[in-house]
Amino acid sequence: MRAAILASGNGSNFEAIITAVKRREIEMDIAFVFSDKPDAFVLERAKNHGIEAIHFSPKNFSSKGIYEAELLHLLEEYQVEWIILAGYMRIIGPCLLEAYPQRIINIHPSLLPKYPGLHGIKEAFEAKAEQTGVTIHYIDAGVDTGPIIVQEALDILQTDTLESLEEKIHQLEHQLYPKVLAEIANKQKGAVK
Ligand code: GRF
Repeated sequence: MRAAILASGNGSNFEAIITAVKRREIEMDIAFVFSDKPDAFVLERAKNHGIEAIHFSPKNFSSKGIYEAELLHLLEEYQVEWIILAGYMRIIGPCLLEAYPQRIINIHPSLLPKYPGLHGIKEAFEAKAEQTGVTIHYIDAGVDTGPIIVQEALDILQTDTLESLEEKIHQLEHQLYPKVLAEIANKQKGAVK
């Protein structure tokens, strides 16, 4: 499974994935890490792991379509088969969706369809929900609406603060994303044979 990681920020999920790849727990070849933000820490993480780190900003393109076409060009040049989103803070447009149908995977920090968007953890906490969790899903044209691959719930305790909940969600993400990607990579391998 040859993949590119798209991320906009810290990159702790990328770190969990590359760690599992290096331990040979996921049969995945990471072609590059791309960020739309030049100062994203994920780019440092990629370089530290010897993975190509590429960035350009949509601001430098006259439209989102042209920005995505440039990204698509890059993906094709590196023969990327799967796109793994790991905190990529942009909506994927038709250019990439059409080129990678059911081949773009995202992780979201809530039990979708609850709390889509940018503040999934905070909204669950402020709603005093009894449970929240993590969703891994395929991307479609909506915001956090694509077909769900897997979800895992966790209880929000009376004693939780927003910070402790964030910490627990991220820990769950770091376990779940590599596990699910390993399963997808295995299925992929079976399908290719
Ligand atoms: C994660 O919570 C993920 O669910 C969301 O963005 C966050 C990225 O965190 N899509 P990191 O950059 O991987 O640390």
